[in-house]
Amino acid sequence: MKFLAFSALLAGAAQAQDFGFNNDIPVGAVYKIGTDFVLTWGPQTRTDTFNLTVSSGLANPIVVDPHGGPYGSPIYDFKGKTIVLNGHVKFTDQKYTWKVAPIDGRQGDDWYYSFDAAWENEATSPRSFMIST
Ligand SMILES: *[C@@H]1O[C@H](CO)[C@@H](O)[C@H](O)[C@H]1NC(C)=O
Repeated sequence: MKFLAFSALLAGAAQAQDFGFNNDIPVGAVYKIGTDFVLTWGPQTRTDTFNLTVSSGLANPIVVDPHGGPYGSPIYDFKGKTIVLNGHVKFTDQKYTWKVAPIDGRQGDDWYYSFDAAWENEATSPRSFMIST
């Protein structure tokens, strides 16, 4: 459920049919700060680029209004923060290495992290994860 909640942060972008990461991040994975996280993807023929970001948000979001959303659903605040890792990653690169680092000191069980690749009107994200020392 925690993962589904955080996914809502990234909702709104269509899932790509033709491009995705090979990384199968296990449910509940925790990656160590300072280590290399290597995102990989298969060979691509397209010559343009995608915008690679990493976001963090609360695993247990703050309920801003319990019934203020559509059809009386709750409105949450995930305290989401996004940083651009590289706005122009070439599809042909097949990998991107991120040295795991916290956004604003966020780490541990309270915070989920997620990568997002966006281009044109499409986007794709591997599963969310946590980071720790
Ligand atoms: C990448 O995405 C971020 C966050 O949505 C946005 O602020 C930035 O302008 C984008 N960069 C490019 C090159 O599209």
